[in-house]
Amino acid sequence: MKTVEEIIEILKNRISDKRLYHSKCVMNSCIKLARIYGIDEKKASLVGIAHDNAREMSKEEWFDYCNKHDIEISENEKLNPVLLHAKVGANIAKDEFGFSEDMVDAIKYHTVGHVPMNSLSEILFISDSISEDRNYDGIEKFRKLAEENKDKAMLEIIESTINLMIFRNKDIDKNTIELKKYYLNKINQKNK
Ligand SMILES: [Fe+2]
Ligand SMILES: [Fe+2]
Repeated sequence: MKTVEEIIEILKNRISDKRLYHSKCVMNSCIKLARIYGIDEKKASLVGIAHDNAREMSKEEWFDYCNKHDIEISENEKLNPVLLHAKVGANIAKDEFGFSEDMVDAIKYHTVGHVPMNSLSEILFISDSISEDRNYDGIEKFRKLAEENKDKAMLEIIESTINLMIFRNKDIDKNTIELKKYYLNKINQKNK
């Protein structure tokens, strides 16, 4: 499996400095959350640095890559091809970086989510929203929640994503809706 340093060298030729900085910030957040929740720190750092490796490919490149590698494209991905950077990036992480299946899943599910998600996937999903390079109203609340209660952080981030999609008049991916239900149930069960 490639190391963080090796992946950074590869990424320098594939993504902008700004996105590489974002990836490093996501990596740092993943490491922090991995320590809190008892998740493998090495895997956390690797998925963090690698998660957006395919983000700057063109629409044509994403579609081509999916066709060549037999990756299924959903209706929502046809309408919003940028979402494909998750599936394509996951496949590259498997083939080129030698990532294990749980790590590949984390990258695959980092945009719209998926039910179920392993804990590595959860901390990547959360970290992508709360990383140091991001700044929006309410981010401090998410950062605090992320360190206190992973499930509640997931739910709040999913809800804010859904609200943003509604505001932008965009379709909400069915995986995201399923995921919201999943965490609502999970939190309600625990409160019983
Ligand atoms: Fe991404
Ligand atoms: Fe990202």
